[in-house]
Amino acid sequence: MTLSPSAQLQLTEAGELRHFLTIDGLPKPLLERIIDTANSFVVVGNQEVKKVPLLRGKTVVNLFFENSTRTRSTFELAAKRLSADVLNLDINTSATSKGESLLDTLRNLHAMHSDMFVVRHKQSGAPHFIAEQVTPDVAIINAGDGRHAHPTQAMLDMLTIHRHKGAFDQLKVAIVGDILHSRVARDQIHALTTLGCQDIRLVGPNTLLPPHVSSLGVTTHSNLDRALQDVDIIIMLRLQTERMDSAFLPSADEYYQAYGLTRQRLLKAKPDAIVMHPGPINRGIEIESEVADGKQSLILNQVGYGIAIRMAVMSMSMSGQMQQRQNSEGKQ
Ligand code: NCD
Repeated sequence: MTLSPSAQLQLTEAGELRHFLTIDGLPKPLLERIIDTANSFVVVGNQEVKKVPLLRGKTVVNLFFENSTRTRSTFELAAKRLSADVLNLDINTSATSKGESLLDTLRNLHAMHSDMFVVRHKQSGAPHFIAEQVTPDVAIINAGDGRHAHPTQAMLDMLTIHRHKGAFDQLKVAIVGDILHSRVARDQIHALTTLGCQDIRLVGPNTLLPPHVSSLGVTTHSNLDRALQDVDIIIMLRLQTERMDSAFLPSADEYYQAYGLTRQRLLKAKPDAIVMHPGPINRGIEIESEVADGKQSLILNQVGYGIAIRMAVMSMSMSGQMQQRQNSEGKQ
């Protein structure tokens, strides 16, 4: 099988995870293995001692050039539960604010013998760029780049779906809202299609639906009531106004009228449908409070699963990388 360039960059010669940058191009068995591994880590959070020794002696640096609550703290907890030493670089007080380039910041952190960088950046492609530059002993994990990719979020969503709904092939999934600016939606689509989901409905105003998506194996809809008919999973997205460079919407009120997930609208979906959202949620804009807090909502469960997924990805990429190093040393 020929791998896409981005898959080649992410995988070792043996097909193991090395960097984790995007779901695009990753093979199904690897995604299934991430889910299985994460499933085995879910229990660590319930143990008296919430730690396993898989990253003992390793140094993980969190480099968040963009704001984050959930992603940053769950990456930190995941690294700590794997027994790594964790450094959270505060970008606002770091030399980046004095004009130091991204690569120079990285070179300096690398000189401190860091083993893994978790990178969030507003520039699409920044983690790929870094992964192309770093020496083979460093792993790069993408924690969200621009509108491009957010692979750990997509995989924690897959873990949530898998744990609550089982196999992917019979599921009907609606992804609702600002798809155009969403790195989460992009990687969710790659993950869902790779895992076998055949009915993925992207729902939103035409101005917030990306063009030419039918080639990705999805359908697009601008009527939410119709699109929710019979779905098993509803994934709501935030209006990402910080990425909007012009007026995409009449007003938040009108948006809520047409695309807000209310209790009334939720009745269109299957009675046991689940509601998900990557957070942060905006109550009364994309979702009614009673739905966000209701019994069909898994929004807070997703946060906990985020720790397990990040533990899985970090431990798999560290072991893939160690194997690669041993193989190349063996060949010398
Ligand atoms: C998402 C993100 O940052 O892309 N949130 C997250 O990682 N939990 C979605 C968003 O910001 O709306």
